[in-house]
Amino acid sequence: MKTRHVLAIDPHGHLGSPLPQVTADDQALHCVESVAAARKVLSKNHCSVGLVVFDSCPPTFQEDIEQLIAATPMTEWIGIVSPQAFESKQFQAFILNAFHDYHTLPIEPQRLAMSIGHACGKARLRLSLTDPGNTSGRFGICGTSPIMTSFFRQLEKVLAADLPVLICGESGTGKELVARAIHDHSARSDKPFVVVNCGAIPSTLIQTELFGHEQGAFTGAVKTKIGSIEAANGGVLFLDEIGDLPMDLQGNLLRVLQEHKITRLGATQSIPIDFRLVAATHVDLQEAIRAKSFREDLYYRLNVIQLQLPPLRERGGDICLLAETVLKNFTSATRKCRALGFSSDAIRAMTAYHWPGNVRELINRVHRGVIMSDGKLLSASDLGFETFALEPQTVTLEKARASFERDIVETSLRANGNNVTKTARQLGVSRVTLYRAISKLNIEL
Ligand SMILES: Nc1ncnc2c1ncn2[C@@H]1O[C@H](COP(=O)(O)OP(=O)(O)OP(=O)(O)O)[C@@H](O)[C@H]1O
Ligand SMILES: [Mg+2]
Repeated sequence: MKTRHVLAIDPHGHLGSPLPQVTADDQALHCVESVAAARKVLSKNHCSVGLVVFDSCPPTFQEDIEQLIAATPMTEWIGIVSPQAFESKQFQAFILNAFHDYHTLPIEPQRLAMSIGHACGKARLRLSLTDPGNTSGRFGICGTSPIMTSFFRQLEKVLAADLPVLICGESGTGKELVARAIHDHSARSDKPFVVVNCGAIPSTLIQTELFGHEQGAFTGAVKTKIGSIEAANGGVLFLDEIGDLPMDLQGNLLRVLQEHKITRLGATQSIPIDFRLVAATHVDLQEAIRAKSFREDLYYRLNVIQLQLPPLRERGGDICLLAETVLKNFTSATRKCRALGFSSDAIRAMTAYHWPGNVRELINRVHRGVIMSDGKLLSASDLGFETFALEPQTVTLEKARASFERDIVETSLRANGNNVTKTARQLGVSRVTLYRAISKLNIEL
């Protein structure tokens, strides 16, 4: 099936015979002689790649092409230029700024085929990062790896049920993001989402923070205060770092969960409350139960549904996907920055690293990289990986092999326009072996 469209604007018919050789089986080729005809093709099809042949063209041709390129931000353009056209400095600057790649006439079909393959890959990446209904994740959570896909399937079921949820995961894995997604995509989305960080509030204050108090309940209680549980009425109460909740309050919380009523401090009447509880922890609560710092009965009340967020190092291709997304968001927010992507040493370093701070650390490293970089591509050292090569424990032979294998397979796939048969032939392996490698390395086709 032809899944990608490639446009060729070739006023003098230079591409005639080599052109069929340079496009892959899944690429539909539209060859036209004028910019007007190109516009017609573009109005009906999204073209991933556009080729333009420049040879003794009138100056208006370049202007028309400039307009066409400006109107098609999701298309990658490749210039094919005659040696004479390339003599002008002004024209060289135009090619440098507006085109993904360029070739000089006469064409070398193999090189052009590779270039079209790369451009198709880049166009697809751009589309996936820009399209609001994109394929880079779900519920506002970035991830396409098998482990995150299975997480999203669980999350989908969780959204439909109105039961307590316990989110477990290392620091920085996105627990709060998931809690917000549970609120935003559930029937309670138009009601409050209230966050209480049980670890950040002094234990003397957490009682009034959760339950509120009546005026005059204690010295200093000059006004009635609504507690977080009451404030969450109708919506979702998110208790972050639930493992840090003091023992006596664990008993109170248990009663609230059983009775769905709260009593403000100093009050005689209880108030009925309807909320969905979402709790999160980075500590092992079962371990805490054994250490007698967490109540077992509360654990069973909270743990009706458990979601386990995987650490970043287990998310394969999501590391690069997240890095690209963070870079894109950051650069569009700061505007001035020139960084467009990551160098291959940065990709290798990110893939091999063990990410103890997970997604939060990745965000910090990319932001740091944008500030430190002076090129278009962020390098490993821009991301703070200068000690990477000196830390042998982070680079196992297995990781190095996987990273090398990924480079080779990805480059070859892109060069062959993602055609598995051609790539397998080029790499000297069977299609089955190649499919296995693609799945193991989490490469997106
Ligand atoms: N899959 C993801 N896609 C996009 N952004 C993410 C993802 N996971 C986490 N983030 C972002 O990473 C940062 C850390 O996430 P979050 O605060 O939800 O983690 P956490 O597990 O609650 O961390 P901690 O245990 O330290 O409280 C946030 O800025 C969040 O938006
Ligand atoms: Mg958190």
